[in-house]
Amino acid sequence: MNIILLGAPGAGKGTQASKIKQKYNLLHISTGDIFRANIKGGTEIGKLAKSYIDAGVLVPDEVTCDIVKDRLTWDDVKQGYMLDGFPRNLFQAKELDKFAKIDLCLNIEVDESLLMDRICGRRVCACGESYHINTLNGSTTCAKCGKELYQRADDNPETVKSRLDTYNTQTAPLIDYYKSQGKLVSVTSGEGSPDDVFAEICKILG
Ligand code: AP5
Ligand code: MG
Repeated sequence: MNIILLGAPGAGKGTQASKIKQKYNLLHISTGDIFRANIKGGTEIGKLAKSYIDAGVLVPDEVTCDIVKDRLTWDDVKQGYMLDGFPRNLFQAKELDKFAKIDLCLNIEVDESLLMDRICGRRVCACGESYHINTLNGSTTCAKCGKELYQRADDNPETVKSRLDTYNTQTAPLIDYYKSQGKLVSVTSGEGSPDDVFAEICKILG
């Protein structure tokens, strides 16, 4: 099964991807993670992507689509995958239809008023786990691997405002796009606890 995780910044795409991966053994492909790995590695893609990510706007479509198109040629995608953060506009969605077969698009619904706090309070680990300061009880290390947690460079109020604006103008129209293809399923418990959201997703995935 190949699925898309759709949702605003901070909706919980990464949090749920980690849970889905454990239970359903789906590959997690996050364009945001791929860009951040490239930035860390100092690659040409990383150098190009950084200015866009810091500004909270989309990295150019050609670059992003090429990365995903290439990633989906690897052997490991045969086990089924989740796309997190791709597609992010209609152009990307139409391109994706040319090189992939998507079964389902899960749209995690969360009111925008909650997102700024969720994102600015997020702490992440190099292993891929993410946390929120409200539930860390003062801990600064990852419960899974013990490494020191850090804050993403784009998790600051100014960039978050821009990311939300980008989502509303460019990504939200994908809800209707996947509805019209009969592939959209709304995850309505997005404001519940991560476990509540996961329980709803498990019901959907069966
Ligand atoms: P990306 O990395 O995809 O970031 P994003 O879409 O802004 O989403 P986030 O990762 O911030 O949110 P999330 O939904 O994963 O939330 P999480 O689970 O971590 O993209 C970053 C940038 O890369 C973009 O701005 C763009 O520049 C570029 N880019 C990426 N893809 C691109 C593309 N296709 N085209 C062009 N450019 C692209 O949760 C957030 C916080 O909330 C955490 O603290 C978590 O602990 C907490 N939380 C999660 N669930 C719950 C819950 N149920 N209740 C309470 N708290 C919760
Ligand atoms: Mg994420």
